[in-house]
Amino acid sequence: MAVLKIRTNPDPVLRKKAKKIASVDDSIRKLIDDMIETMHEASGVGLAANQVGVPLRIVVIQVPEQEVLVLVNPVVVEAKGERLVIEGCLSVPGYQAEVPRAESVRIQARDRNGKLFRKRGSDLLAQAMQHEIDHLNGILYIDYLTDKDQLLKTGSEIE
Ligand code: NI
Repeated sequence: MAVLKIRTNPDPVLRKKAKKIASVDDSIRKLIDDMIETMHEASGVGLAANQVGVPLRIVVIQVPEQEVLVLVNPVVVEAKGERLVIEGCLSVPGYQAEVPRAESVRIQARDRNGKLFRKRGSDLLAQAMQHEIDHLNGILYIDYLTDKDQLLKTGSEIE
């Protein structure tokens, strides 16, 4: 496994719509393992493949006290509720902001063996699923801000 370089805004790869994966082979599984190691090294909750410069639809997520979640070709199939949450991103280091997210989502994806599954997420998991799937569509959380003043330095108080 290897720790990969995390691309930061305004790297154009972050704005590319990532491509669907036709079949999950060993080279994809190696990329998944490297992404997991990179996410752990950076103490992140999630990572999308375009954040390491690979425009493919792969996401890894790890929220505290849960197993690593690998999502290949993920799509949100249901979203419920709305709330404001504080968000940051490894590709926008040093900042955070409050953004609107659905309270819970149901996603469909393939796992590291190519098997299709569905999973429901709430709280931080729902937030991470939405944030990372956004990455695959070239969207960063800062895109939801209507005013630059809403972007705060990490560690500063919100409200
Ligand atoms: Ni991010």
